[in-house]
Amino acid sequence: MKEIKNTALLVFICEPSETTLAVTNPASGELLCHIPTQTEEEINTIIERSAKAQKEWKNTTAKHRSSILNNWYQLLMENQDDLGRIMTLEQGKPLAEAKGEVAYGASFIEWFAEEGKRVYGDTIPAHTGDRRLMTIKQPVGVASAITPWNFPIAMITRKAAPALAAGCSFIGKPANQTPLSAYAVVELAYQAGIPKDLLRLVVNHSSRLVGEIFCNSTTIRKLSFTGSTAVGSQLIAQCAETVKRVSMELGGNAPFVVFDDADIDAAVAGAIASKFRNAGQTCVCANRLYVHDDVYDQFMGQFIEAVRQLKIGNGLDEGVNIGPVIDQNAKEGINKLIAKAVEQGATLAYGGSPREGLFVEPTVLTDVEQSMDIVQEEIFGPVAPVIRFRTDEELIQNANDTVYGLAAYFYSRDIGRIFKVSEALEYGMVGINEGIISTEVAPFGGVKQSGFGREGGKEGIEEYLDTKYLCYGGV
Ligand code: SIN
Repeated sequence: MKEIKNTALLVFICEPSETTLAVTNPASGELLCHIPTQTEEEINTIIERSAKAQKEWKNTTAKHRSSILNNWYQLLMENQDDLGRIMTLEQGKPLAEAKGEVAYGASFIEWFAEEGKRVYGDTIPAHTGDRRLMTIKQPVGVASAITPWNFPIAMITRKAAPALAAGCSFIGKPANQTPLSAYAVVELAYQAGIPKDLLRLVVNHSSRLVGEIFCNSTTIRKLSFTGSTAVGSQLIAQCAETVKRVSMELGGNAPFVVFDDADIDAAVAGAIASKFRNAGQTCVCANRLYVHDDVYDQFMGQFIEAVRQLKIGNGLDEGVNIGPVIDQNAKEGINKLIAKAVEQGATLAYGGSPREGLFVEPTVLTDVEQSMDIVQEEIFGPVAPVIRFRTDEELIQNANDTVYGLAAYFYSRDIGRIFKVSEALEYGMVGINEGIISTEVAPFGGVKQSGFGREGGKEGIEEYLDTKYLCYGGV
């Protein structure tokens, strides 16, 4: 970790032992450091202390909470370079992308510092003359979250910031592959003035155990999860026992559509950005491309040329666009999907050659059919299967032919078509002539098996608030 200048960001590093977790660099396999893990008993103590801290925090003013959150935001931005380096070391994404994620993660803190000051209730015209009715919004209490390795900072701040702004306490479990960025960000929260018991991270070799503790706890009132649909649906079932509030940001299978009236240059740039961001490891990545017959040759020529320009390597090296995938399992899963697609009749139009370590070559597949596994499953890697289409009706049917409903993208300049297709796509988010849509100011979330609940935007803080109805009688 010699690359990190501000060593205060590494206070969590400890000597190796049976109760520590090893963190490695996916680009080189090199051991980065060890961090402490918590036992079940320790996690339960953290939960109890969190409940006590929340009782005090909820009574502070929104303005006070906002000013502390703003300090936290500033500290993230001041440490953007170091935080980016920590992220690249443990996660693999190129440094420019990692620094971009630090700013993206920080933006949620800045946004919710403001939104926390605008948690309004209502006054309601009463149904009888002697009553007065109103609603107030109150924090749900102790909030917990389980976050993924693909966005080690932004997925924590997108949940912790609205929770803290609303007056909740927060306990997060970062992914075991990428806990260092999360710990560094939480260290900065303490420096910003957030009480230690109010914001805690927990780590254990068994992620399942932490999930069970969170779900079964009657003290924790909320669980927010970002990850796979398979794990999300188990967590929903486990949370049923304690009737916990849950929000789920789960898997995706985003269609990326190029209509015959599209601006092809813009569509190529959007497809590259959407498909290859974070080596294809985002829930909102274009998973399958649909290109209209009439512009197919033009689009494919330009698209393959742009893919050829992508440089694979260690994310700390200059000019690298594609880092490693997160681990061997991920690499094998992606390679299996490519092999199966070829077996099912797809053509390798670019890439697909084996690479050393955890690297996967950016790959383009053509002659792809709707029924192939690579179209039906979430790839989570730098692979672009391309399907030709002719009519809008056929396109909408195929784009919606998935259990997922997170993000979709399309390129067209026909205003009528833009309205119709936007409305017909069964997705929580649609990018129209735009391949990158994530921002703190808009609601992020899906429909169908991509989950429920929204993060960011004016909706994000509602996930951490209960509405209380007050009926004043005898007035
Ligand atoms: C995700 O992949 O889960 C998040 C992506 C984003 O926020 O853009």
